[in-house]
Amino acid sequence: MNLPHRVIIDCDPGHDDAVALMLAFASPGEIEILGITTAAGNVPASLTQKNALMLCEFAGKSAISVYAGCDRPIMRPSKHADVHGVTGIDGFPSFVSSTRAESLHAVDFMIRTLLGSPDDSITMACIAPMTNLAMALIREPRIAAKIRQIVLMGGARSTGGNVTPAATFNVFFDPHAASIVFGCGRPVVAVSLDACSRVLCGKSWLGTLRQTGGRIAVAMADLITHYDAVRTKKFGFTTDGAPTNDPCVIAWLIDPGLFVSREANIEIEVQSELTMGMTVVDFWGVTQRPRNALWVHDADPDRVLSLMFQRLVRLDRFLATAT
Ligand code: BDR
Ligand code: CA
Repeated sequence: MNLPHRVIIDCDPGHDDAVALMLAFASPGEIEILGITTAAGNVPASLTQKNALMLCEFAGKSAISVYAGCDRPIMRPSKHADVHGVTGIDGFPSFVSSTRAESLHAVDFMIRTLLGSPDDSITMACIAPMTNLAMALIREPRIAAKIRQIVLMGGARSTGGNVTPAATFNVFFDPHAASIVFGCGRPVVAVSLDACSRVLCGKSWLGTLRQTGGRIAVAMADLITHYDAVRTKKFGFTTDGAPTNDPCVIAWLIDPGLFVSREANIEIEVQSELTMGMTVVDFWGVTQRPRNALWVHDADPDRVLSLMFQRLVRLDRFLATAT
């Protein structure tokens, strides 16, 4: 039997971050969560931290520590997303969580955890701008050896960017951080918007999820519905359903066979304002640059959605038996 991945989840909840966290909470056989770190991204850092605490409590996972991190990108001004509403998780039944973030900064938590771990042992699941991990790598370069892999959500080649024509949110928000992460020398798995956009949570899937009547399932269906409505209004898409984005990182960790990928060299544009944050993927191997990442460019939508469904229902079952 395979041991679970030992994972630090770096997030900025975020509707799709919320679903990703639920998927991870529901999958202890594959994912051991060492801690959740938050950063500025979809909304300011004060809100991503608050949302992470709330989501943990909602899922009965308050025992998982949340560490608040960087409140701005390394070099550029913050430009938060506008598709997640004022709170970052508009549509979620907000409450004041009874827990607080740890006093240790997210960057220090990453450094402490990684330095205290064997080489090649920790998976970083990055579903937000990568400021925390980049800062940790700069402050303590010895942590790189401890990282088994960095599985991140970001980049686009065929769908184009969702923030600018060239760039996706997590990379655009802090391109310098992304550049440091892609260049750190450890295995990077880039779960791209190309792959995530293939997995759409359509009305029928959401309806079936809602019909289970579970607290988690219904809340996630409501969140995705809200996110989809805002996206549809903003971008004018006519597709049935919102892309899954961040949950695909967790789904990849559970079963990489649900996705199609290819090794490539990936560099991040950090100079041109026109293409700032672009993931320049050498898909054809036309440069002499070494391969530094696995580019996840496609997915099996039915199998990813089926996994998500099963796990969200399972989390509701865990909750029911715990109370
Ligand atoms: C990514 O950007 C954020 O808005 C989402 O939470 C996701 O991490 C999608 O491009
Ligand atoms: Ca996110």
